[in-house]
Amino acid sequence: MPANYKILQEKDYAESFGPTHAFALDILVGLSDKPKRIPSKYLYDDNGSKLFSEITFVPEYYLTDCEIDILSNQADKIIDTVKDEPFNLIELGAGFGRKTKILLEKFSEANLDFQYVPIDISESAMIGLRDSMNESFPDIEVNGLVSDYFVGMKWFNERFTERNLVTFLGSSIGNFTYAGARFFLRNVWTCLNRDDLFLIGFDLKKDIELLLSAYNDPKGITSRFNLNVLDRINKELGGQFDKSRFRHFGTYDVFSGAMESYLVSLESQEVPINQIGRSFHFDEWEPIHTEYSYKYLLSDIRELASDTGFSEVTNLFDSKKYFCDAIWRVNKS
Ligand code: AVJ
Repeated sequence: MPANYKILQEKDYAESFGPTHAFALDILVGLSDKPKRIPSKYLYDDNGSKLFSEITFVPEYYLTDCEIDILSNQADKIIDTVKDEPFNLIELGAGFGRKTKILLEKFSEANLDFQYVPIDISESAMIGLRDSMNESFPDIEVNGLVSDYFVGMKWFNERFTERNLVTFLGSSIGNFTYAGARFFLRNVWTCLNRDDLFLIGFDLKKDIELLLSAYNDPKGITSRFNLNVLDRINKELGGQFDKSRFRHFGTYDVFSGAMESYLVSLESQEVPINQIGRSFHFDEWEPIHTEYSYKYLLSDIRELASDTGFSEVTNLFDSKKYFCDAIWRVNKS
């Protein structure tokens, strides 16, 4: 059966303003703030997503290897939680699907009865995923949704009755503050049914040197990934950023437990952005905050689960205990 996907319309007000309106608004607000900031979701245009996928092959960026270790060696523990009845494997943000492929391979070896439902806001990402699924897994039923995660989960859940296993891999949760993570997870909870399962990746707190080198890799790919957002503003909003006048800086905040990424202005400068109709001033050494990557203790993960309506099923760790894939069950009456 060929893989397929459906495009959902967001009945969102943003549509009537055109595609770049929300972006321009966020950049105007973010660059007018003190300290300046750019929401991290804008790092992931096509070019940014490609650069991030290059990061996942950088030896210093241990996160991907650790999660691959977990999925390759402990898939049986995931399979145990779903093997008794047909289910839907819903994936939030598959990216290039490297880790998903491992999971799907294990699931088909175990002869599980499921359909695979990737949800992604980017149609070009979905097209790539559809094509690679057709090539690698012609026998798995794939029904993707191009949609916001919550719109997609709700839409899907109103039409299918099997149990859901939702996956949110790769420490994407780390991009949220602890408060933002609670907001996100409670929203996931709202879209699911009692006893549905949630598999979510957390990067664990660890030696600070390991964190710093993961986010400041020697080949400079992380730097290119971060600076790419300035190119995106130039392309989509008519900005006039000169990337050579900024540098990437990744640092760890011991109080908040987050890796933080910044773009630091190397000189005093004015940068016009055409579609916003004004320039922004940067002092020399002034930072723009671009990303948080929060790190967790197992006790933080447990607290997060119980605060947002989930109960712990099991926690899977890689051999170095750098990363945790937690499996939670939806608690609902
Ligand atoms: C895609 C959010 C999981 O925070 O580790 C990698 C993004 N930023 N290097 C992360 C990222 C810099 C990554 N996530």
